[in-house]
Amino acid sequence: MAKKLNFICQSCGAVHPRWSGRCDGCGAWNSIVEEAPLSAGPAKKTLGAQRGSPVALTDLSTEEAPPPRTTSRIDELDRVLGGGLVPGSAILVGGDPGIGKSTLLLQAAASFAKAGLNSVYVSGEEASAQVRMRAQRLGLGDAPVRLAAETNLRDILTMLDTERPDLAIIDSVQTMWADNVDSSPGSVSQVRAAAHELTTFAKKRGTSVILVGHVTKEGQIAGPRVVEHMVDTVLYFEGERGHQFRILRAVKNRFGPADEIGVFEMTGGGLAEVGNPSALFLSDRETPAPGSVVFAGIEGTRPVLCEFQALVSPTPHSQPRRSTVGWDGGRLAMILAVLEARCGIPFTGLDVYLNVAGGLRIGEPAADLAVAAALLSAREDTALPPQSVVFGEISLSGALRPVGQTENRLKEAQKLGFSSAIAPARSKIGDRAELDVRQYADLAAVVGELFGAG
Ligand code: TYD
Ligand code: MG
Repeated sequence: MAKKLNFICQSCGAVHPRWSGRCDGCGAWNSIVEEAPLSAGPAKKTLGAQRGSPVALTDLSTEEAPPPRTTSRIDELDRVLGGGLVPGSAILVGGDPGIGKSTLLLQAAASFAKAGLNSVYVSGEEASAQVRMRAQRLGLGDAPVRLAAETNLRDILTMLDTERPDLAIIDSVQTMWADNVDSSPGSVSQVRAAAHELTTFAKKRGTSVILVGHVTKEGQIAGPRVVEHMVDTVLYFEGERGHQFRILRAVKNRFGPADEIGVFEMTGGGLAEVGNPSALFLSDRETPAPGSVVFAGIEGTRPVLCEFQALVSPTPHSQPRRSTVGWDGGRLAMILAVLEARCGIPFTGLDVYLNVAGGLRIGEPAADLAVAAALLSAREDTALPPQSVVFGEISLSGALRPVGQTENRLKEAQKLGFSSAIAPARSKIGDRAELDVRQYADLAAVVGELFGAG
C-alpha cells in the first residue's frame, strides 16, 4: 500500500487532507507542504481499554518553594528570563538570521558555565572550530563550556543523557534531524519532533534546554508556532539591521513576566549590556525639531523613554503614503482618523512617515498621544516645548485615557532631566514637584493648546 501523506501548514502545523494554496487554520498563503505522517506505527486499541499506572493528585494549597534560579550575571538576560535560569525549563530564542542569536547564547553559555553550571553548546550550523574561534574573539576562550557540532537528534540525546549537563543550548532547532521522522530537516515534522524530544528531556532530567529558532521573513519562528506551545519561555531577539541595538523580548514566560525586554548593543567584542536604555535611545536626539516627540513608555517592568519622529509632506501621488517603522500601521491610521474626525485636522493629500528612533518597536497604546503629537508637530511645523515627554491612550471618541504605571514614567522622565510632561486627565501622577505635568481630557484640548489649531 502506498504510504499516506499529510499536507502540513509550515506556519501553524495544521494538517490538511489535500494541498491547497491557503491554510484554513492560520490563513497563511503557500505554506502547505507534503510530509510523511509523524508516527506510522500500527493502530492500537483506545488508551482507556488497558489500565495504566495510578497518577498521584495533590491540592493547590501544597507549599511550593519558588524554583531555584541561576543567574548568568548578564543582568539584561536574567531579567528577561524572570530572574535567572530555572532548572528543567525549555526556552526558545527566535530571531532573524544574523541578528546575533549564536553570539548571545555563546556568551550566555560561558556566563552560566562560569556561574557553576555544567553547560553544553550543540551547534548544528557551525563546526566546533568556528564556535571556538568566535569564543576566543569574544574573550570567552577560558569558559568551561563544552562544544559539539552535531545534527543527529538521537546522538545528541544520548550524549545529553550520559553527560547530564545543567544547561544545553541547541543552535538551531531547524538543523536538528530525527532519524525516525521521514521528512527533511527544517520541516514542521522534524522541528516538532526535535522540540518535543528536547523539551521532554528537559523535564525528565532537569536540564535547562535553550533552543535557537530562525524566524521566517513573515516574522514567525520557521515551521512551527507549535514549538512555542511546547516550551516554557519564548524569547525574541530583534533589532534593525542598520542599528547596533538588539532587544531580547519575552513574549511568553511561565517563570516570569512576559513583555520584559533586555537591551544589548552589538560591538566588535560581542553583545554588551545596555543598563540605561532611555539614555541610549535618546542619545542622538538633535535639538527640538518639528515632528520629534519623546514618549515615556514602559517595556515590561521598566520605563523606557524613546523618540517618535514624524514627517508630513504633500504627496505627488493620488494615494498618499502612510509608512511606519517601529509602530503599528493600523494604529497610525486610527490616530489619523481621530485627528480628522474629532479635531478637524485632515491629512488628505499628505504623505505621512512615522519612525521610532533607534530601531525600537513600540506596541503600547500609551504611545497614541505621542504619535498624535508628532504628527501634528510635523504638520504644523512647530516643535513641541523642549524637555517634555508625552504619553496617553486615545480613544475613538478623541478622549484621552490614563495609562498604567504613570508614576514610573514620570520618574524616569525626571531622572533623565525632562522638565514637563503631557498626560491624560485623571492620571495618578503622585508627587512630582520638579515636573510640570499638564493633563488634558481630550485630544482636541491638546491640539488647541499646543498648536493653536483645530
Ligand atoms: P550570529 O550570532 O552569528 O547571528 P545568528 O546566530 O542570529 O544568525 O551574529 C552574526 C552577526 O553578528 C554578524 O553579522 C557579525 C556580528 N558580530 C559582531 O558584530 N560582533 C561580534 O563580536 C560577533 C561575534 C558577531
Ligand atoms: Mg547562528
